[in-house]
Amino acid sequence: MYTSQIDNDFAQSVKKGLGSSRQKRIESKYFYDAVGSTLFEEICRQPEYYPWRVETSLLRHHSKEIVGMFDENFALIELGSGSSIKTRILLHDLILRQPYVYYFPIDVSKEMLCTATRGLGSEFPNLRASGISSEYVEGINRANKLIFSNPQIPRRKLIIFLGSSIGNFEPKDSISFLQQLRSTMDKKDGLVVGIDLQKDKSVLEAAYNDSMGFTARFNLNLLTRVNRELDGNFDQHHFVHHAFYNSRFKRIEMHLLSTKEQEVYVGRLCETFGFQAGETIHTENSYKYSLEDIRSMAEKSQFTLRAAFIDEKNWFSLAVFSPG
Ligand code: AVI
Repeated sequence: MYTSQIDNDFAQSVKKGLGSSRQKRIESKYFYDAVGSTLFEEICRQPEYYPWRVETSLLRHHSKEIVGMFDENFALIELGSGSSIKTRILLHDLILRQPYVYYFPIDVSKEMLCTATRGLGSEFPNLRASGISSEYVEGINRANKLIFSNPQIPRRKLIIFLGSSIGNFEPKDSISFLQQLRSTMDKKDGLVVGIDLQKDKSVLEAAYNDSMGFTARFNLNLLTRVNRELDGNFDQHHFVHHAFYNSRFKRIEMHLLSTKEQEVYVGRLCETFGFQAGETIHTENSYKYSLEDIRSMAEKSQFTLRAAFIDEKNWFSLAVFSPG
């Protein structure tokens, strides 16, 4: 039987995460199958989920200024492009100043890349978009090769990493990730990162417990994915979504809580996993930062923080980094 690397990675990760004698886990990167990605788009439309709304408004207000911070023409590289709705705001301002814009969205999901680039050509006739399906750093290296092999593409690049996805990394991993990005960049390149800020616990908890229940479905969809792809027999009715702010670690934690003592069999792993009533599977951390943290993040990864655009409620930040 043919099994893809992704399937194998998922199987290995679930085996290790559910087999743990301490806190059970499933990694958050597995949220994003087709159903999960659609649910995530719904989450972004919910009134409680402020990050999407506030970041979009920051881009609307500051995209000209961001584009103007770089004096040479540049190619745009986007990490985890999703639907590229917000990117259109930057593209719009970029197209006003450059005869051609070369745009490289990078995403592991080919479907996401199709969504990202769909319709862009007719919307922006001077845009040359080529999606790169890979992990982020490898994707930038591939984009670099394309940039250097075609003299028409500007050598400078602006990398954007929106949506506060950096918050889903453990803090030390976010530093090594930024250091890796730094190593793919030239002195005059730029990096824009959307970073969610610390704020009142009630606002944070509402954002991850939307009243329409999309976040709950997004979280529970992991169990459906285990059932479908790994032949599991999770009963979704016996798990509930549990999301709360952990003020010690300054992060939202998402869990799936077992409502009773139960056993779950996962056929592809030939393993049974036991759950106590109230025991949880930890599925995601979403770290919230302060401006001071962002400064220190920049320093530790050898970037200069050139600007941090923040909304009037101090809820979200668009940080602009330059190497050096
Ligand atoms: C993708 N990421 C930044 C989202 C977040 O807010 O951490 C994922 C998410 N999880 C629940 N709602 C949204």
